[in-house]
Amino acid sequence: MNTNQTSTQLQNLYLIGFMGTGKSVAGELAARKLGLQFIDSDNEIERHAGQKISAIFEESGESAFREMEKEFIREGHPRFGCLVSCGGGLPVQEGMLDALKERGLVAALWANPETIFERTKDNPTRPLLQVPDPLSKIAELLEAREGAYLAADKVISTEQRSPKTVSELIARFYEDNRASSSDR
Ligand code: S3P
Repeated sequence: MNTNQTSTQLQNLYLIGFMGTGKSVAGELAARKLGLQFIDSDNEIERHAGQKISAIFEESGESAFREMEKEFIREGHPRFGCLVSCGGGLPVQEGMLDALKERGLVAALWANPETIFERTKDNPTRPLLQVPDPLSKIAELLEAREGAYLAADKVISTEQRSPKTVSELIARFYEDNRASSSDR
């Protein structure tokens, strides 16, 4: 990471974590606090494709969506000054977590399967959770993915915490790291 950053070249911050961990809500609050541009990978992919995520999954398949996520990280967002909320499966793909770490700081939001289930159960926009037993699906996916989430530069639990509190923890992590990198 370049340590001679000007205020217009603040390093990017990537928020990762499972669906329903609050990346978008806490991320947007943290971005405002930090003076970073908030970008949501799902929204950018939908805008670029002109289709909702569920339609992309239905018409082109999950693997096509995963390629769009990779393209978004490689070429589809600014290199500086952004807080990027990443779709839950993005950092799990081969090479993607390293790609995020090369481009900035990475913080993961964490929650337990039951909490995720409660937070996502009434939202029909996530194709992977439109199954007869979403709680089991969440537990299975979380187990498969936890290695990637826990390998972030910082892991923040969102259990029993409001989005505002989580956003403050995200902002503190970013500021602490920014301060220590400019001291070097
Ligand atoms: C997915 C998470 C979703 C979205 C897509 C797939 C995943 O994003 O990218 O439905 O594989 O975990 P959010 O984590 O923002 O819900």
